[in-house]
Amino acid sequence: MPSEQSKTPRSFLTTRDWSRAQIDALLDLAASFKQRDPGPLLRGKAVALVFFNPSLRTRTSMELGAWRLGAHAVVLEPGKGAWPIEFTDSAVMDGDAEEHAREVARVLSSYCDLIAVRKFPGFQDWSVDRRDEPIKALARHASVPVMNLETIEHPCQELAHALALRERLGSLQNRKYVLTWTYHPRPLNTAVANSALLIATKLGMDVTLLCPDERYLLDERYLGAARDNAAAQGGSLTISHDIDAAYEGADVVYAKSWGALPFYGNWAQEKPIRDANRHFIVDERKMALTNGALFGHCLPMRRNIKATDAVVDSPGSIIIEEAANRLPTQQAVMATLLGAKPTGAPSGVPITEHKEIVHA
Ligand code: CP
Repeated sequence: MPSEQSKTPRSFLTTRDWSRAQIDALLDLAASFKQRDPGPLLRGKAVALVFFNPSLRTRTSMELGAWRLGAHAVVLEPGKGAWPIEFTDSAVMDGDAEEHAREVARVLSSYCDLIAVRKFPGFQDWSVDRRDEPIKALARHASVPVMNLETIEHPCQELAHALALRERLGSLQNRKYVLTWTYHPRPLNTAVANSALLIATKLGMDVTLLCPDERYLLDERYLGAARDNAAAQGGSLTISHDIDAAYEGADVVYAKSWGALPFYGNWAQEKPIRDANRHFIVDERKMALTNGALFGHCLPMRRNIKATDAVVDSPGSIIIEEAANRLPTQQAVMATLLGAKPTGAPSGVPITEHKEIVHA
């Protein structure tokens, strides 16, 4: 675990590399950007946004976030408008890939000041996917910072989520936080769930991971990191398969679906188990057991599958605030990685003149 005195990491691949103080500094910087436009902090800089998978929020907030700081963002979609990429060292490249991550990282580093990457796992073999090799390979061979836009973790989502919670609740210390598995017709990435555990425990919350049974537990790497965070920050981590007990007294309910790791790549076998757990939907009855809990989700989200309309549209729903916070939090990460933190008096205009966030 990084010490509170650690140097700022070169890249933003996982919040496990960033201390509590460093995360708090990113959140404070993002909050300051929301109060007052920092101006063209990154004037003349170039950012490569490498998207292997679809996105609405991440792509929009990264492009606009860079632009508002005076930087230029280039979006690349390997296999679509850019060449397919090989990541494995010593691979005999007789498949679809036309170039290797070794060249991609060094070429983009010669044009750009930062490389940001979205690359979902392959969903065939967790022992391979858990290595998170594609983004690590790019970070290894790049000579500029690399930012994770979702691989098997989603650290940018963590920051936006944390800022939204801080804005609503103030201190998060020992608040009861429930990460609940929900049904979805397809097995989804564990990234947001891994990340929710990491950030909620890093911020000292009392965290409950609620899931149908032990087959839906997350990788021990994340459970272990969450336990370490909880011990360091005075919070806790509890595993529960009891819906009502988990919701009782909760301050935050965060919903996410993910595929069961023991069935990874063998999803047809998981399907009946998943289908039998539709009742994990976040609904009004369950929310009535809480301490007036906030409801969060990373989006995109299937309504009335993961959560009912009444919950999604309730005053306690923070889904739009969290999505909106993607922009200032990612600006804070870009500015910090590029050493461009504002020092003097704010130079810009209040950001609310650009855009007012309306709570549902
Ligand atoms: N939450 C999130 O990352 O959204 P997108 O997939 O639309 O980028």
